[in-house]
Amino acid sequence: MSEPSPQETGDATGETTGGGPKHVAVIMDGNGRWAQSRGKPRLFGHHAGAKRVKEIVRACPDLGVDYLTIFAFSTENWKRTQIEVSGLMSLFRRYIQNEMKGLVAEGVRVRFIGDRLRLDKKLQTLMDDLEEVTRDNSKVHLTIAINYGGRDEVARAVKEMACHVAKGELDPETVDETTLTRYLDTRVLPDPDLVIRTSGEARISNFLLWQSAYSEYEFIDTLWPDFTAEVFAQCVSRYAGRDRRFGGVKP
Ligand code: FPP
Repeated sequence: MSEPSPQETGDATGETTGGGPKHVAVIMDGNGRWAQSRGKPRLFGHHAGAKRVKEIVRACPDLGVDYLTIFAFSTENWKRTQIEVSGLMSLFRRYIQNEMKGLVAEGVRVRFIGDRLRLDKKLQTLMDDLEEVTRDNSKVHLTIAINYGGRDEVARAVKEMACHVAKGELDPETVDETTLTRYLDTRVLPDPDLVIRTSGEARISNFLLWQSAYSEYEFIDTLWPDFTAEVFAQCVSRYAGRDRRFGGVKP
C-alpha cells in the first residue's frame, strides 16, 4: 500500500468521496455497562471487548477498510480504579502476546499512538516488538491508541516543533497545518473518513481531535462487546450514502 496522498491526509478541498471509508476510527465504549448489566465486574466487559477487536480487524479487508484506528486507553482513563487500570494493562499485554502470530499471518500492520513512556516497560517492549514484526504487512493498518489524548498529542507535537525551532532546524515562518501534521503520532496515517462511537454517547472524548476535522460520525447505541462484524458492515455501508464536501460546495 502506498503512502497516503495529500488528499487523504486531510488537505482535501471540496471533493465528494464516494465509495466506502478507507480509514475507520472507533471509540469502543460500553464495556463496563455491558458487564454490569450481566452482574459481572467491568473487566469482564473489557475482555469481551478484546474479542470484538479481533473480529472487527478481520472484517476490514472485505469491507475495503485499509486503516482501522481504535481507542483502547485514553490519557483520562488513569482516573479509573487501580484494579481496572492494571486489569486493562494486563489485557493489552496478553492481547499482544496472544495475537502477535495471527496478526503477522493475516497481513495486519500494527502501530500504536499515544504517549507510551508512562506505560510499564514490559508493555512498551511488547508494543515495539509488535510494530517491528508486522512492519512489512499492508493488508490492514491497525492503529491502537493507548495512553492517547488528542490534546496531549498536539501538545507533544508542538513541544517537539519548538525544540526544532530552538535548534535552528525549523524556520517558524514556514510552519503551517502540514508541518504540524508531520509532528503528530498519526503522521503516516490518512485522516479518518468515519469515526464510530458505540454505546449511545455522543462525544469525541479527546480522540483524534485534529485528524477528525472533516470525518463523518456514527454514534450508535450498541455496546462495544455487542459490536459484531455485521453491525460494523452496516456503519460502513451507511457511510457510502454520505455527501462529504470538506467545506466546499457541490459542483
Ligand atoms: C470504554 O468502555 C472502553 C475502554 C476504556 C477500554 C477499551 C478496551 C477494550 C475494548 C479492550 C481491548 C482492547 C484491545 C486493543 C485489546 P467503558 O469501560 O468506559 O464502558 P462504560 O462507559 O460502559 O463504563
